[in-house]
Amino acid sequence: MRLLKEINLSNKKIVLTGITTSGVPHIGNLVGAVLPAIQSSKETDISSFLFLADYHSLIKNQDPDLTYTSSFEVAACWLACGLDPEKVIFYRQSDVPHIMELAWVLSCLTSKGLLNRAHAYKAATSVNQEQDVADVDKGVTMGLFNYPILMSADILMFNADEVPVGQDQKQHIEMARDIASRFNHHYGDIFTLPEAKISDSGGVLPGTDGRKMSKSYGNVIPVFCEFNKLKKLVRKIKTNSLEPGVPKDADECTIFSIYQAFASQSDVDDMKKLYENGISWGDAKDKLAELIDETIRPYRVEYQKLCEDRKYVGDILKQGAKKASEVAEPMLEKVRRAVGIREF
Ligand code: TRP
Repeated sequence: MRLLKEINLSNKKIVLTGITTSGVPHIGNLVGAVLPAIQSSKETDISSFLFLADYHSLIKNQDPDLTYTSSFEVAACWLACGLDPEKVIFYRQSDVPHIMELAWVLSCLTSKGLLNRAHAYKAATSVNQEQDVADVDKGVTMGLFNYPILMSADILMFNADEVPVGQDQKQHIEMARDIASRFNHHYGDIFTLPEAKISDSGGVLPGTDGRKMSKSYGNVIPVFCEFNKLKKLVRKIKTNSLEPGVPKDADECTIFSIYQAFASQSDVDDMKKLYENGISWGDAKDKLAELIDETIRPYRVEYQKLCEDRKYVGDILKQGAKKASEVAEPMLEKVRRAVGIREF
């Protein structure tokens, strides 16, 4: 394992992204985060910080087994798909406690009003309003409310320049910028203002019900499942009721959107023609299931190996946390000094 000194962060663009470990890794994660991050980690002018957002997971669920299992599965998924841990800084959020400490400091200068406007919080309160619940905050935890602060700490801790995320996370990056500017304005220039990087597709893959593929909607297609299960899930994708032989609109179709994320341009063009010629929904779904299976097959073999060597995965994360802490420690010291917490 190379030491951080040899990784040399200076002059490199810092790209950082995380995945919340609250469910099985799904093909939305794969297409939206895992594969693009692995791709960009190969570029020599980039330094990648990739992490498992396990403390974020507690906001979404209070099932210890789920958080534990998901953390392993997400880590193994990154590695099985070809992440080279020597080339990136790959860690668990919870192994770098500096992040939690920074989150407190940031929370002290973040106005409550900013967080009132966060989409996830607003969605929770508007459900209560619609149902005429007297307390609009019913069911809202402080974790949910503070979510954008912890995410800001994840990002600002490492002075990330760029954060690749789905469209739905854009507001969180804007909040991180706001919080960083406020800090810099008050205490001096310390934090880099991060930019969100949203892929052309919005970085969001639709799930089996057509909404964003997300564990919270229960509409996911796991990356690592047997072909028969995969086929069954793909068959669940909602479509309209056009009969075989009737031309179909590819652009409005969930099957096609997912197909596009995995296929080469020429395969996409061919599929578009099949739509125009009235391919049946059953056939379109079978083609999609086969394509996903074909893409994932080599990763699946690696994944199985990692499942049999959990300690190897654990050791990689520990080494990653060591590297991340080497960056976080001096950064946090700078922050502490800036706010007036330092030795006498
Ligand atoms: N909120 C992100 C999601 O649910 C996960 C996440 C946590 C993250 N911290 C982050 C993403 C920091 C990018 C940067 O998808």
